[in-house]
Amino acid sequence: MGKISFSLILALALVTIGASSGSKCVLSGTWRSNWGCLMNVSVLSNGGEFSGSYQSAAMATGDNALPSPLHGVQQNVEQKQQPTFGFTVKWQLSESPPTGITVFVGQCFVDDQGKEALQTKWLLRKEVRSLRDNWKATRVGTNIFTRVK
Ligand SMILES: *[C@@H]1O[C@H](CO)[C@@H](O)[C@H](O)[C@H]1NC(C)=O
Repeated sequence: MGKISFSLILALALVTIGASSGSKCVLSGTWRSNWGCLMNVSVLSNGGEFSGSYQSAAMATGDNALPSPLHGVQQNVEQKQQPTFGFTVKWQLSESPPTGITVFVGQCFVDDQGKEALQTKWLLRKEVRSLRDNWKATRVGTNIFTRVK
């Protein structure tokens, strides 16, 4: 009995090691950021292009944001286990006419347990009335996304 359970544990450990060393971070699916934003990403094209939708938790834009379209591209779809990517979110807002654009750049990481995380930086450009206000038109931040499904 003891021998069997030991072998089982060993087998499980080997399977886990095998899975994690081979696992690849895949962008497609649903993600939640550390700020509570939700994002759906499509299946990637052969060239690494993707689209989807992004719903903010009303923090980045300061407005009530509807699901907004996103478009992006990932590097080296075939080879890379922890690929880099970039995407744009064109905001749709429920109250005011949408004027802002956010761009994200990031990398998709997988840990030893196969858990994925998207480490990103973003720039948000909001429209301002005049060149005089240009200095305050762009914000920068960090988001970490984990997979919902
Ligand atoms: C993502 O897709 C799910 C299921 O289709 C949907 O319920 C959800 O509203 C979508 N989220 C966004 C941000 O588009």
